[in-house]
Amino acid sequence: MLRRSFLAGLAAASLAAASPAAAQETVKIGLIIPLTGPFTTTGKQLEAAVRLYMQQNGTTVAGKKIELLIRDDAGRAENTARIASELLTNDKVSFLAGFGLTPLAMATAPIATNAKVPMVVMMAGTSIITERSPYIVRTSFTLGQSAVIVADWAAQNKIKKVVTMVTDYAPGHDAENSFADQFTKQGGTVAEKIRVPIQNPDFAPFLQRVLDAKPDALYVFTPSGVGSILMKQFVERGLDKSGIRLIGPGDITDDDILNGFGDAAIGVITGHNYSTAHPSAKNKEYVAAFRKANNNMRPNFASVGGYDGIHLIYEALKKTNGNTDGDALLAAMKGMKWESPRGPISIDPETRDIIQTIYMRKVEKVNGELYNVEFASFPDVKDPVKAAKK
Ligand code: PHB
Repeated sequence: MLRRSFLAGLAAASLAAASPAAAQETVKIGLIIPLTGPFTTTGKQLEAAVRLYMQQNGTTVAGKKIELLIRDDAGRAENTARIASELLTNDKVSFLAGFGLTPLAMATAPIATNAKVPMVVMMAGTSIITERSPYIVRTSFTLGQSAVIVADWAAQNKIKKVVTMVTDYAPGHDAENSFADQFTKQGGTVAEKIRVPIQNPDFAPFLQRVLDAKPDALYVFTPSGVGSILMKQFVERGLDKSGIRLIGPGDITDDDILNGFGDAAIGVITGHNYSTAHPSAKNKEYVAAFRKANNNMRPNFASVGGYDGIHLIYEALKKTNGNTDGDALLAAMKGMKWESPRGPISIDPETRDIIQTIYMRKVEKVNGELYNVEFASFPDVKDPVKAAKK
């Protein structure tokens, strides 16, 4: 008896080993996102969007079963890198995806390079990320993309003197530099450049300096989720009544939290890649489905990075006929174009970075709720930081 079952077990084991095709039927995607800690809202948006896409498009692509493995890195780079290694070694994932913050993407880049596995950056926005590995593709944005457009708008709208205030880490530095370069080129003056620590952000002491400097506008970058602290302190310090305009990349008026800002946010001008209020048919459908599946939560710009990131993975697999070779997948992704809920987008075949429309928006009350209402659009914007290096 014992011997028989032992032999049967052996036979089954060798059968499994002899049929690698069966083991390859599943393609695994490792989605590493912050689901705890200060950047939980980003993780929630990314997870909700990826799940929605898979619900809408099924879980079989090119004859393979798609399996999503979701891991929480709590927004800490040492976790992201460790989890990525575990997903590759233990779970044999064919894609790494997610990356809610720049340091998390930077820490994982060499791991993707070693494994020759596509790494889809769905949120982080520092220009240099895509240069850290030939296996990185980005579906989010770069800070420079919107900073340059906001600088042009400011220069054309009687704003002559600006103070910049950014969260003190790489995407903040990109937002500050791209804005200042473009604004001064257009004849504007940056009177002061303020950098606020990323840990426990407190803008209040810096806002007094802004009041004293009396600029026409305050240009602010904070990562998604932090804008509500800024807005509260902006009002508490009386800046909303000072005549100093608040402008910046759209991270500060994140759709996810904007409606809680109160009427003081009305009139804030930002440039960004996505608004829940984007008036396309595709977006209206997306917003309705997303809200329905997520307890009425509004999709924000992180969500479209996730939705488009998983789309890119699905389409690349279709193009390779289910082949999961990293180089084949990268080749399939380069130059891909499609209509996102945010508008038309593509993957730059040279840089693997996203090319997209940037919109100028103004916070307005629509049917009793605050939205970023688009009033101008700038199609096919590439990352200006990389463009300047050429
Ligand atoms: C980033 O860390 O790259 C990052 C995070 C949140 C944002 C923008 C950039 O809203």
